[in-house]
Amino acid sequence: DGEATTSASDGSRPGPDPRPERSLGLRFPAGFGWGAATSAYQIEGAVKEDGRGTSVWDTFSHTPGRTRGGDTGDVAVDHYHRYLEDLDLMKDLGLRTYRFSISWPRIQPDGTGQPNQRGLDFYRRVIAGLHERGIEPMATLFHWDLPQALQDRGGWESRDVAHRFADYAAAVFAELGADVPGWLTINEPKTVVQNGYIYGHHAPGHRGDPDAAYLVAHHLQLAHGLAVQALRATAPHGRIGPALNLHPCYPADDSAAARAATRLYDGYENRLYLDSIFRGAYPADVLADLGANSRMVTAIRDGDLETISTPVDLLAVQYYTPIYVTADGAAVQKRPTSNASWQQIFPEGMYDILTRVTRDYGRVPLTVTENGLPTPDAPAADGTIDDAERVTFLRDHFAAAHRAIADGVPLQSYHVWSLLDNFEWDEGYEQRWGLIYVDYPTQRRTLKRSAHWYRRVIASNTI
Ligand code: NOJ
Repeated sequence: DGEATTSASDGSRPGPDPRPERSLGLRFPAGFGWGAATSAYQIEGAVKEDGRGTSVWDTFSHTPGRTRGGDTGDVAVDHYHRYLEDLDLMKDLGLRTYRFSISWPRIQPDGTGQPNQRGLDFYRRVIAGLHERGIEPMATLFHWDLPQALQDRGGWESRDVAHRFADYAAAVFAELGADVPGWLTINEPKTVVQNGYIYGHHAPGHRGDPDAAYLVAHHLQLAHGLAVQALRATAPHGRIGPALNLHPCYPADDSAAARAATRLYDGYENRLYLDSIFRGAYPADVLADLGANSRMVTAIRDGDLETISTPVDLLAVQYYTPIYVTADGAAVQKRPTSNASWQQIFPEGMYDILTRVTRDYGRVPLTVTENGLPTPDAPAADGTIDDAERVTFLRDHFAAAHRAIADGVPLQSYHVWSLLDNFEWDEGYEQRWGLIYVDYPTQRRTLKRSAHWYRRVIASNTI
């Protein structure tokens, strides 16, 4: 005992761990922020209530063929109506922090103008309920649900949308800023760029348009910087930072060509977002690869990088998978995959990415805002839900984070994705990512084995 079991390194699926809950004897720093994460469209439902406008994900999920089985977030896990029950479940788990997102179309139904009070009131109630239960709120301003009206005006391809985002952010800070100590600007800009404009399986569903994609990247980065400035102007005691899904990239073999290809791949996956925020410059290799005539490069104006690199208080890291890159720049599988085809299980990647950002970008406080695993959960005859695989996965990733902390990484909190099973975007409801099982027909919530284990981890601050 005492050694974290790690996944097989030959790409085969490891056998199940017979005792995933056994203690590794690793204690976390006092006050460590154990948490869980969700996002608005994935859990709330109530898409037509209290003046909410339409978002690009309403449009996308209602377009035939876009999501598995035609699933939508119309009802999701009905959190809009069941938030008190969900807050009680968080308290039961002992969560210290809860990360959720604010739905832009609830606040500004068409993306501009006076905020909708009924939309703000919902988040005010959630935030008050968290404080009453001793749970610290961490709010994301944008988790992909762009008001459709702004998409109709060009979406993130339009520079103006970055300014609309700053106005929305300022309205939210003015109303909720006093009660929310931690803010995240844009969730996973890279996912919008890649899945929304290159692969096309996320809203707005543009396929094969890298020129538009990287223009979108620039405007998302600009929007981030403008929102940081808005917080400083409206709620200066708040802390804010970007939420980036970072992918440690490794050469698939030890050839010089694979190493060179990995370096550029890393530029697109990580440095594009990190360097612009923390160094005030886009990486030269990525800019050169995009080309001087690309829409992104020609869109960069004097002062943009200063805006994007407005100092932040924290960096939120979302880690799910490594990427292995061949000499010709292709991504290949080297580790066992999960039920999400894009996810290879590699806990050491958590250590690598946390230590790397600290080494390359300075000692900015870090939070893990997402990490998790989809498992094919179903209740047994006695009603229990045995997701031992999730326990093993989280334990090994927590152990990697613990090792990073021991090596000096300023990691303050860790939010498991996700609190509850929910709407997994184009995958619909089939992939279950929650610590808590949701029976969709009845909306009944049941703690999975992993939730019972996580409660003990939090209570003892130890794995
Ligand atoms: C990242 C996203 O932020 C979240 O919305 C999604 O559900 C998880 N990854 C799992 O894919």
